[in-house]
Amino acid sequence: MIAVVLLAVVAAVVGIVREARSSGPPPTADAAAPSSSSAAPSSSAPAPTSTPATTPPAEPTFDRAQQSIDDPDSTWVVVDKARPLAPLDHAPADLVDIGGRQLRAEAAQAMHDMIAAAAAQGLGISVQSAYRSYDYQVDTFRNQVARFGEERAEIQVARPGYSEHQTGLAADVGGGGCDIESCFATTDEGQWVAAHGPEFGYVVRYPDGAQDVTGYKYEPWHVRYVGVALATELQRTGTRTLEEFFGLPAAPGYPG
Ligand code: DAL
Ligand code: ZN
Repeated sequence: MIAVVLLAVVAAVVGIVREARSSGPPPTADAAAPSSSSAAPSSSAPAPTSTPATTPPAEPTFDRAQQSIDDPDSTWVVVDKARPLAPLDHAPADLVDIGGRQLRAEAAQAMHDMIAAAAAQGLGISVQSAYRSYDYQVDTFRNQVARFGEERAEIQVARPGYSEHQTGLAADVGGGGCDIESCFATTDEGQWVAAHGPEFGYVVRYPDGAQDVTGYKYEPWHVRYVGVALATELQRTGTRTLEEFFGLPAAPGYPG
């Protein structure tokens, strides 16, 4: 009788152990692999098809403080209705001739290269206006007011001391039978300048739909030299204006 009871107890214990083993988790590939290669995929696992083999290198961050945006001699200077040139009658020291107009030397070389590249594509681009002195801008602004009235003049022409043209870094270009008119945007020349200008350091400074930021209506002909690095960064990031890129306040009108 005692032997029968003992046999029954042994049989029950063996049954419990078997049950515990069969309901535990199955051994995994990781558990079977040596600990030093536990992170590596199992040789029996299917190769991933959608994961890139290597992570692309991170974009280098663009240093937005590498040049001054206040110094009128900086190629990054930001001039708008809230940011006059200082001094107001500033004149650049390195103006050179470009097509009978004047630009600062670096901007003139870039303009020369841009015009040559466009010509190689069969496109004729000309410089219609470039550096304008404080005194010249006095006349330009006065003429616009006389012609269009003050309200319209204010969104077309800067007051003296507030114009990018006074930096020697801005130009009005023409081509395709349209000079300094909104039709320039529809010409092959105008579209080429907008698309390829950044390769030469030029951006369309007063884009369509940005009057609330720049203070000026769309000027597809007005290009501003900022250097290739900044121009291509603006284009790469799809940033419309210098104000937005540098986190500056919008300048729809003059303060006060
Ligand atoms: N037309 C641009 C805004 C200027 O006069 O500087
Ligand atoms: Zn202009």
